[in-house]
Amino acid sequence: MAIDEHSVARSERRWATAMITASATLLAAIVYASLGAHITPPSNSLETVDPATLHVAGEFVEANLGTKVESGGEVVARIVTAQFAFQPACVVVPQDTPVTFRIASPDVIHGVMILGTNVNSMVVPGYVSRVRTRFQDTGDMLMPCHEFCGLGHSQMLAHVRVVAKADFKPDANGRATCAPE
Ligand code: CUA
Repeated sequence: MAIDEHSVARSERRWATAMITASATLLAAIVYASLGAHITPPSNSLETVDPATLHVAGEFVEANLGTKVESGGEVVARIVTAQFAFQPACVVVPQDTPVTFRIASPDVIHGVMILGTNVNSMVVPGYVSRVRTRFQDTGDMLMPCHEFCGLGHSQMLAHVRVVAKADFKPDANGRATCAPE
């Protein structure tokens, strides 16, 4: 049976039209989500911070790291991820309470995930990674770096200690640290 060249060409045009339409629809959805609905990945909150002066001035100086209950009552855990450690290596947070993680890196791209939860974000130098969550269960949760960041990557991990609300006791400045084990 002879193949009709015209029908082949028509078929190809139909497929090309369908694929271009699908691609254009997906692209439009991405543009709408980011520009129209302001939905961006948590790794990129578009909040910038100077990685070169991270440890010298501003929000991420050593004295300001860890868990703090802000004046409005919001529980915020600030963490610096650097080759090859988290600072602090443990943060304590209350159970069943909204918690905001604010994480920054002074050197290379790291990643944080809290095992057993949907908390998962890259930490890109120059940006503050902000993740909001709420922990249902108490206990120590492992928070490893999940972005290859150099030879010490596999050694880079921290813990999130979730305690019952009654056991969460911030000091007069609103700060709470993991009790020594
Ligand atoms: Cu930090 Cu891998």
